[in-house]
Amino acid sequence: MKTVRTVTDLRAALAPARRAERSVGLVPTMGALHDGHLSLIRHARADCDVVVVSIFVNPKQFGAGEDLAGYPRDEKRDRALAESEGADLLFVPAVQEIYPTGFDTTVTVGELTEVLCGAPERRGAEHFAGVTTIVTKLFNIVQPHAAYFGQKDAQQGLVIRKLVRDLEIPVRVEICPTVREPDGLAMSSRNAYLDPDERARALALSRALDAGEARVAAGERSAGAVLAAARAELDAAGLEAEYLELRSAEDLSCAERVNGSTLLAVAARVGPARLIDNTILGGT
Ligand code: PAF
Repeated sequence: MKTVRTVTDLRAALAPARRAERSVGLVPTMGALHDGHLSLIRHARADCDVVVVSIFVNPKQFGAGEDLAGYPRDEKRDRALAESEGADLLFVPAVQEIYPTGFDTTVTVGELTEVLCGAPERRGAEHFAGVTTIVTKLFNIVQPHAAYFGQKDAQQGLVIRKLVRDLEIPVRVEICPTVREPDGLAMSSRNAYLDPDERARALALSRALDAGEARVAAGERSAGAVLAAARAELDAAGLEAEYLELRSAEDLSCAERVNGSTLLAVAARVGPARLIDNTILGGT
């Protein structure tokens, strides 16, 4: 596996594959790779001839109160993990390579970015503007046939799908299932911030989703009842939800009832970490 750090080197490294019309898959990451990322690389490996993994801790998607400087970084470890999953190319640009002096363009998606994590009192739509700006730039640099994201960041996946649709970007967006620890905790780079007590309390997020799912499986359809069952799990762990909401899994509009494809999404602060999780509920 080759590591490249500049756009010029990345394009040169991909040129032979491009000439041979081989398919290129991109797994964009901010590093601190865990099994969730590795499963994205495995999906890309299964689908594409050439797999590019990017590692870029994107300053534009961190808010004022978020610890950009403290974000876990370990390129050597990430490199070994990406290589072990069969990635062909690691793209690790410096901030100056992506945002050179004078860079002054932002790509924004509308309403989808203004709810859940994007609500003004939370990370704000600016967070997603940071995501869509870097993702657009990575798509233009790598020009992949397919790009791989995790369902854990359900809103991010919908926003990127909308970006690609609205701007006719010729890339297939693949959203891969959330990978969980054996006890149910969704894999996240932010889990590294949790001490053992916080780690135990963090389980309440997946338990809340399970409780909501159980109510739906038992025939419940009212949003109020499903949310109450989920909230009881957070309360039992002493966690206050930043949000716990039922929304359409297609357009994030509010759902009064579980009907078809409905997203049950939760965010909560556990100690120093802000954790998110979600599940898609069925029901007719
Ligand atoms: O999901 C992430 O890790 C980031 O938001 C992404 C897609 C790599 C953009 O920086």
